[in-house]
Amino acid sequence: MSTAISPTAYNYKVVRQFAIMTVVWGILGMGLGVFIASQLVWPELNFGLPWTTFGRLRPLHTNLVIFAFGGCALFATSYYVVQRTCQTRLISDSLASFTFWGWQAVIVGAIVTLPLGYTTTKEYAELEWPLAILLAIVWVTYGLVFFGTIVKRKTKHIYVGNWFYGAFIVVTAMLHIVNHASLPVSFFKSYSAYSGATDAMIQWWYGHNAVGFFLTTGFLGMMYYFVPKQAERPIYSYRLSIVHFWALITLYIWAGPHHLHYTALPDWAQSLGMAMSIILLAPSWGGMINGMMTLSGAWHKLRTDPILRFLVVSLAFYGMSTFEGPMMAIKTVNSLSHYTDWTIGHVHAGALGWVAMISIGALYHMIPKVFGRQQMHSIGLINTHFWLATIGTVLYIASMWVNGITQGLMWRAINDDGTLTYSFVEALQASHPGFIVRALGGAFFAAGMLFMTYNVFRTVRASNPAEAEAAAQISVVGAH
Ligand code: HEM
Ligand code: HEM
Repeated sequence: MSTAISPTAYNYKVVRQFAIMTVVWGILGMGLGVFIASQLVWPELNFGLPWTTFGRLRPLHTNLVIFAFGGCALFATSYYVVQRTCQTRLISDSLASFTFWGWQAVIVGAIVTLPLGYTTTKEYAELEWPLAILLAIVWVTYGLVFFGTIVKRKTKHIYVGNWFYGAFIVVTAMLHIVNHASLPVSFFKSYSAYSGATDAMIQWWYGHNAVGFFLTTGFLGMMYYFVPKQAERPIYSYRLSIVHFWALITLYIWAGPHHLHYTALPDWAQSLGMAMSIILLAPSWGGMINGMMTLSGAWHKLRTDPILRFLVVSLAFYGMSTFEGPMMAIKTVNSLSHYTDWTIGHVHAGALGWVAMISIGALYHMIPKVFGRQQMHSIGLINTHFWLATIGTVLYIASMWVNGITQGLMWRAINDDGTLTYSFVEALQASHPGFIVRALGGAFFAAGMLFMTYNVFRTVRASNPAEAEAAAQISVVGAH
């Protein structure tokens, strides 16, 4: 179907805003990651002040990297993808603009309140109720903009990437609202509506699905658009993508109890969570293989295209972390890995290797397009960034594997008389070299982001947004 359309075919302004803020928050969130990693090496860096202690800055790191960096990448790419694949402009410019400013306000709220110590104490859901309500309003508006745009689409079918983005938006709203049900006792303090093991289960139903839907499903939406685009090949199997979608969203929601092994949670719930986590390997790898195989016949492009390398290596890390996760969900394995740095390594295999690398690849593809340039200012700098990110991730994960297994084994070692072989401090001392390597790996990754900032700055400075709108017009008129 050809569609004539005005030069302002797409709302690229909001895409540009979110894309720039992805880079800004990426630098801040990862910079803070390097800082807290350094605090674990040199505790003096806590400065003896309450606001700068590890305990307060750690949740700020997770909020900045997940919701600010990851969130802005998801907003930017979903608004871009939904417009292009539905061949229509976002349903409302003002609502889209509200989501941008509202989201930035939530992030600034986190930057102010978390170091001051205001927290619900629920991991990844730390923001107190006024900010949580603002977040809910912004999120519902996001849903209206996204689904409203799908409703007014000019194409017949809904591209699979939008299914993934759509599920991520719906489920995130559900998780956020249910887990934040609480009783405010002052402007800065509230208590959860749930108690005991129920509270823990709801928190980890939220926590795990924050991983499954925020850190996975949304980014799979990104993968289904940007991998075929950058490889200039159709997705390997459209049928597999549909099976992948339904299997993934059906299974993920049950796996939360693997965060609560050997706790007061009923045993049957722990075993159910373990079984569902193991089955989850199948759809995860189905999706990974679908992405990888899209490169059939285009593998040679990896030699010259660092953007494609970012996307493919992110899929490799996705495959690795979704193999490791089900393994760690097995109760006997978890009895070793839980509470150790192994979990932290697993998190960052997913967070750096998968989430950050696919976002970076997608941004390098998208930024020139929405700023009216042919390509990024420097392909060489993208290549440098790629190597810094890959080496950084490997250093991070490998050091945490060594630390995690060392800690797990040292904690459980007992003498013949039943006393502990090692004190906790001895295990901590053994972890010190690993902490240094992790901080170094993180510094590599964050340094890569500085190269990206310079590259984006040069690209934007030479930008021509009017040309981008015109190019959008051509691509829409020419599309079938
Ligand atoms: C099939 C897929 C996956 C399964 C079954 C899985 C399973 C697990 C398990 C068993 C743990 C350890 C729980 C504990 O001992 O406390 C864990 C922790 C975690 N995983 Fe995964 N994982 C998967 C994929 C991923 C991916 C792709 C990411 C990131 C993008 C990720 C992010 C996390 C995070 C953030 C935690 C730490 C939660 C916390 O304690 O704060 N996981 N995962
Ligand atoms: C330069 C890169 C980064 C560095 C150096 C870094 C460092 C750290 C450190 C030191 C911790 C605390 C570990 C502990 O408590 O022992 C942490 C936790 C965490 N980081 Fe990062 N990080 C980086 C990037 C990211 C990114 C990009 C994401 C997500 C997209 C992320 C997500 C998380 C999460 C979810 C946790 C909590 C893990 C848990 O509770 O199990 N990080 N990070």
